[in-house]
Amino acid sequence: MRAFVVTEADDTLTIEVQDIEATPRDPSDLLIAVDYSGVNFKDAMVAALKSRVRRLPSLVGGVDAAGTVVHSTDPTLPEGTRVVVHGGVVGVARDGGFAQFTYSPARYVTALPESVSTRVAMIVGTAGFTALESLMALEDHGLEKGSEVLVTGATGGVGSLAVAFLAAKGYLPVASTGSAKESQWLIDRGARRVIGRDDVADNPGRVLATETWAGAIDCVGGETLAQILRSLRYGAAVAASGLVASAELVTTVYPFITRSVALLGIDSVEATKVTRERVWSAIGLIVSQIDFESLVDREIRLEELPEAFDDVRNGTTRGRILVNPAPG
Ligand SMILES: NC(=O)c1ccc[n+]([C@@H]2O[C@H](COP(=O)([O-])OP(=O)(O)OC[C@H]3O[C@@H](n4cnc5c(N)ncnc54)[C@H](OP(=O)(O)O)[C@@H]3O)[C@@H](O)[C@H]2O)c1
Repeated sequence: MRAFVVTEADDTLTIEVQDIEATPRDPSDLLIAVDYSGVNFKDAMVAALKSRVRRLPSLVGGVDAAGTVVHSTDPTLPEGTRVVVHGGVVGVARDGGFAQFTYSPARYVTALPESVSTRVAMIVGTAGFTALESLMALEDHGLEKGSEVLVTGATGGVGSLAVAFLAAKGYLPVASTGSAKESQWLIDRGARRVIGRDDVADNPGRVLATETWAGAIDCVGGETLAQILRSLRYGAAVAASGLVASAELVTTVYPFITRSVALLGIDSVEATKVTRERVWSAIGLIVSQIDFESLVDREIRLEELPEAFDDVRNGTTRGRILVNPAPG
């Protein structure tokens, strides 16, 4: 089969399409024929020299994939089931989705709702799953419909899907972006208004900014997350999932002890089977309200992955890059 293999040896990184056999780790692994994968920020981190994310010297990349089960011993996921696979060690410490076939343990595999095609599943991908997981965490915290919710990194995978999901569910997403030229695109995806990366909070000389956001979905981290905490309304929460700007967080305790705000950590990687089913079911219910094709930056073949990683590292993508593993 065709697969995109990342290999590090003698301080040299090789990333290339190879013809290899898919191999199971365990006899209980499901074999999935991959229709689509997608490019995530993490994939670019895996395909880097001395990666702190990749845990094997050589593996097939791709932290997610969608396709059809072609071999299974699991009665809940029989052959013929259309599925999405993501998270855990997929594409990080075992072969992932940048291939025509992939083996996976059942715990990383979720049956897709009837309404969600494998193509839409990978337009959503790990990024969109994380975006909706973030929104559901805010809703569980008490987010009210019709309120303004900040989305950072808005043209990226998590950000653009967060904007679309928020709009579809009756919230007013405010998109923060460093890509001002994409403002109209963000408004067309459902953003109520668009602000710059540095416009998240006011009153820079004071400990707290004006109470502005009823909630926030942040995948940027660092100073951006600190500014969000200063500008959340009383009792509001930010769902934090990423670190594209920085993994450091320098803040004070004032937002927490005087405004009762909450910092909600979001992890999709070790999401439980129950969470996976809850999120994918919710996607199935709103799928008809979103123009998913408009969230596709482009569709690529395995050979084009290195260029896609450069775009992700440079923050120049818009929405999601779909990966089709079939021969070109
Ligand atoms: N916790 C989890 O389970 C989980 C799951 C998925 C992703 N993530 C994390 O979420 C983050 C985003 O992932 P993604 O796949 O959405 O990435 P992405 O598609 O590359 O989007 C990131 C966006 O962040 C903005 N950005 C880029 N560099 C920036 C910088 N230096 N400062 C501020 N903003 C910057 C850009 O948007 P604008 O140009 O619009 O500002 C960019 O499009 C990553 O850190 C990823 O590891 C975590």
